Amino acid sequence: MASIVIVGVQWGDEGKGKIVDLLTRGADTVVRFQGGNNAGHTIVLGKEKFVFHLIPSGILYKGKTCVIGNGVVVDPAVLMEEMGELKKRGYLKDDRQLMVSEEAHLILPYHRKIDVAREKIFKIGTTGRGIGPAYEDKVARCGIRVVDLLDEEVFREKLEANLLQKNLYLTQVLKEEPFEVSRIFDEYLGYKKNLEKYARDTSLFLHDRMAKGKNILFEGAQGTLLDLDHGTYPYVTASNTVAGNACAGSGIGPTMIGRVMGVAKAYTTRVGEGPFPTELHDELGEKIRERGGEYGATTGRPRRCGWFDAVIVNHAVRLNGIREMAITKLDVLDEFDKIKVCTGYRHQGRVISNVPSNLEALKGSGPVYEELDGWKTPIQGARKLSDLPVRTRRYLRRLEELTHTRIALISVGSDRSETIELKDPFRKKSSKK
Ligand code: IMP
Repeated sequence: MASIVIVGVQWGDEGKGKIVDLLTRGADTVVRFQGGNNAGHTIVLGKEKFVFHLIPSGILYKGKTCVIGNGVVVDPAVLMEEMGELKKRGYLKDDRQLMVSEEAHLILPYHRKIDVAREKIFKIGTTGRGIGPAYEDKVARCGIRVVDLLDEEVFREKLEANLLQKNLYLTQVLKEEPFEVSRIFDEYLGYKKNLEKYARDTSLFLHDRMAKGKNILFEGAQGTLLDLDHGTYPYVTASNTVAGNACAGSGIGPTMIGRVMGVAKAYTTRVGEGPFPTELHDELGEKIRERGGEYGATTGRPRRCGWFDAVIVNHAVRLNGIREMAITKLDVLDEFDKIKVCTGYRHQGRVISNVPSNLEALKGSGPVYEELDGWKTPIQGARKLSDLPVRTRRYLRRLEELTHTRIALISVGSDRSETIELKDPFRKKSSKK
């Protein structure tokens, strides 16, 4: 039995979807443990393109089980839509392929409304999907879980109690329209019928799979710098995105986790507000955005782009206990004369090599760069390390040195085949270089 957690080491959108998709071949079960439909994974399968927000991308493989763990916040409307789309395209034929934790909290229409309305007061640049307000209710112990929806009486009771407070907050503080109990109740009862067959105790299921020696893949959403505790607070998401949360968010113990693989883009991007020391505000940033198609999979917003920042990646390596890394979108850098890597921040006359907790210090930090020669050659066709130009390999080696990790996978294009696999973490075997 092996279990691997995949986490993003930047501000999300590192291309985790493709890496999870590749590693799913060796896994029996794929688990999401945090976040919700604020995530967006794009998988390209030949001519077909799939975008998932909630369902683990492993669903495209026959015979693999996908679990939405207790730590996820579930918008049932989005779940139904994704399930419907999958079924329409010939996937998810067997309902046993998908499971939703009974303990997962639901996103309700008032969460979305509060999220969007609050952005007008204090802008974090959220996805507007109600993620933060749903987690707030979970912590306030008034959240409504999947298991509550399955019992009509309990659901109505909890919905009524919530709406008493939410409507006051919406109308008096946020100056928004209130919600009617019956409207939400009827809508969600419709989801209940469909959700029932997928809801179960997923912690028990995972323990059973592990006891049977099956390989489990934990799919992190967002990135470490968006972690509620360790990210660039308050410009973060509302859940813990670090590997440690794979345990709490899916109901397993830390001794059950084998390894953690980090996923980093060959450069850096960020959506929403918040500090970003290596952001490029010039035509180089524009070029990365265009070449990398850097527009949000969830909201379509243009992503902010910049050079690889080894300081934030090291922060993530430490917080997640990462030894192996997947580097994605390396081909996006094909046309650059020079490529920069940030090795430290200049702050108040000295160079620091850690991410300061004080956001003002981070905002005021200037990047210290190391400059490498670009390779100026298309690399999309490379399938082994030796197919890559010397300068590309030099860049990769430098990333390994700066982040104290080994590169296990390199992605040189969006298709599954456009990958250099140096090591299959499930098989523990190194492939030919
Ligand atoms: P929320 O998760 O919608 O509350 O948004 C909080 C912050 O996290 C915002 O800056 C979002 O842009 C960012 N964010 C949330 N999910 C993702 C993601 O999957 N990729 C990148 N950024 C994200």
